[in-house]
Amino acid sequence: MILVTGGAGFIGSNFVLDWLAQSDEPVINLDALTYAGNLANLASLQGDPRHVFVQGDIGDRALVDQLLAEHRPRAIVHFAAESHVDRSIHGPGAFLKTNIEGTYTLLEAARAYWSHLQDTEREAFRFVHVSTDEVYGSLGPEDAPFTEDHPYQPNSPYSASKAASDHLVRAWHHTYGLPVVTTHCSNNYGPYHFPEKLIPLAIVNALAGKPLPLYGDGLNVRDWLYVKDHCAALRLVLERGRVGQTYNIGGWNEKTNLEIVRTICRLLDELRPDAGGPRERLITFVADRPGHDRRYAIDARKIERELGWRPAETFETGIRKTVQWYLDHPEWVAQVQSGAYRQWIATQYGRVGPA
Ligand code: NAD
Ligand code: TYD
Repeated sequence: MILVTGGAGFIGSNFVLDWLAQSDEPVINLDALTYAGNLANLASLQGDPRHVFVQGDIGDRALVDQLLAEHRPRAIVHFAAESHVDRSIHGPGAFLKTNIEGTYTLLEAARAYWSHLQDTEREAFRFVHVSTDEVYGSLGPEDAPFTEDHPYQPNSPYSASKAASDHLVRAWHHTYGLPVVTTHCSNNYGPYHFPEKLIPLAIVNALAGKPLPLYGDGLNVRDWLYVKDHCAALRLVLERGRVGQTYNIGGWNEKTNLEIVRTICRLLDELRPDAGGPRERLITFVADRPGHDRRYAIDARKIERELGWRPAETFETGIRKTVQWYLDHPEWVAQVQSGAYRQWIATQYGRVGPA
C-alpha cells in the first residue's frame, strides 16, 4: 500500500492510473479536490478495490494520522500542491497554506508514523517529495541546464512556496532521519492536463477557434516532458532512489512557447482541419506575466546514471499523443470548463478568453 497525495490532479492521476496498470499494490489517494482535482480523471478505477479515494486536506493532521494508522503504507508520494504560477501571482496565500504548511503537516504525520514502525518497515519506508525545476530560478540563453547542485533562486510565489517545502523535506531528513527523496521535474504535458496551463489551453482554444495567448514575445523557454515519463521516473525513484538525495527529471526538450503553440496548430490542422484556415492565425501576443522566468532546462544525467531512467517519448511523439487525447475526450474538456474555469479565464485574459 502506498499513500499518494494530490492523486486527482494532472500528474497525480496519471501516476495512480499507471501505478495500478503495472502493479496490484493498492493506493490510498488523499486529495482535497480543489479546482484542479478531478475525479473524472480516475473514472476508469471506479469500483476497483485497489484504489481508495479520500477527499481531504494534507493540512488535516488528524485525518492524515488516521489514514496512516489504518492503511499502514510503505511510502508516501507527495504531489498535492497549488501548482499554477499565474494563480500564485493573483493569490499567493493558498500556495503558502498548501505547499508549505500542508507539507509541514504531512512531514510531521509521516515522522510520527515512521518512527513507530518495526525495523524492517522503518528501513524500507520512503517519503517521495515531488518538486519542480522552477525552484532553481531562470537561466540565461547560454547557461548550462540545472543540475541538482544549482542554487535555489525561486522567483514566483509558486516556486518560492515549493522551495520552502523542499527545505522542510530536507530538514526532516537531516534532523529526524525521515527517509525522503526529492525530485525536480521540468514542465509536464499529456492527458488530464487542466486547460489553464499553456499546452492544454492552446489545444482547447484552438479547437474552439479562440485566441492563443502568448505572454510577452513568446520566446520564453521551457523543457517539456511527457507526463507518463515523469511517472515512470517517480516509480524508479521510489524503489531505488538514494535516501536524502535529489533527482532532476527532464526530457532534454527545450522549446520556446511560440514553437509549442505553432506545433499544436500544425497538428490540429492535420488531424482536425479547420474551414477557417491554418490555426496559427489565432496566435495573440498578450501582456507578459510579471517576473516571468525566461528559461528552464534540466540536466537529467544523474537519474539516468544512477537509476537508468530515460524518457520513452520524444516531444514529437508525446505532443501528438496529447493532441489526439484531447480530440478523443471532448466530454472531459467540456466538464473541466465549468463556471469556475470560465471565471479564471476572464480574470487572467479578459477579452481573449472563451466567452
Ligand atoms: P495540479 O494542480 O494538477 O494538481 C494538484 C492536486 O493537488 C489537485 O488534485 C488538488 O485537488 C490537490 N490539492 C491541492 N491542495 C491540496 C491540499 N491542501 N490537500 C490535498 N490535496 C490538495 O498539479 P500537477 O500539475 O499535477 O502537479 C503535481 C505536483 O507536481 C505539484 O507538487 C507540482 O508542484 C509538481 N510539478 C508539476 C509540474 C507540472 O508541469 N505540472 C512539473 C514539476 C513538478
Ligand atoms: P505554464 O503552463 O503556466 O507553466 P510554468 O509557468 O509553470 O512554466 O506556462 C508555460 C509557459 O507558457 C510559460 O513561459 C508561460 C507561458 N504561457 C503563455 O505564454 N500563455 C499562457 O496563456 C499561459 C498559461 C502560459
